[in-house]
Amino acid sequence: MKCTSGFVLQSIALTALLSLALVSSWASAHSGATGIVKERMDAMKDMSDQMKVMGDMIKGKQAFDVQAFIDGSAIVAKHSPEIPGLFPKGSGGHQSEALAKLWNEWERFEVKAKRTAEEADKLSELSKSGADQNALRKQFVMLGKSCKSCHKDYRKKKKQ
Ligand code: HEC
Repeated sequence: MKCTSGFVLQSIALTALLSLALVSSWASAHSGATGIVKERMDAMKDMSDQMKVMGDMIKGKQAFDVQAFIDGSAIVAKHSPEIPGLFPKGSGGHQSEALAKLWNEWERFEVKAKRTAEEADKLSELSKSGADQNALRKQFVMLGKSCKSCHKDYRKKKKQ
């Protein structure tokens, strides 16, 4: 009897452990990324978190708060000029979703990073200058397009 309940307990513990492992690998698909790849994923994630906050305000899901645009555009403006430096040659493959052709089209890749920085700077200036929501929305869309323009060419499509 003692022996059986011990076994049951053990298998419950094992099941719990396994499902925990499954959940955590599902929550972070890139948990295996390390070094510079992890660093650029974190920078990209940082930017997309800000884009989400601003996007929700633009869609009316959250109350509009100009400070979120001032802070959010500053974070994107800070990270986007760092993008080329986060993609050293040979850092593709493994966990990375970067397409190898980006290193063959390096100047074009750099231009796309620069454009994102410029659009973020514009959004930053507008939000500090007291521009109306419509102007902020238009510039936010421009910024979002600049992210997409690089992903379209240089990031693997999501599997699904
Ligand atoms: C100059 C090109 C370029 C620009 C501009 C760019 N990205 Fe990316 N982004 C990439 C590439 C390439 C990857 C794939 C990186 C990898 O997996 O190694 C990526 C990955 C990501 C990811 C996934 C990160 C992860 O955890 O795997 C997110 C989120 C993201 N970008 C958001 C953004 C947002 C938001 C912007 C605009 C504010 C932006 N990116 C601008 C090239 C770019």
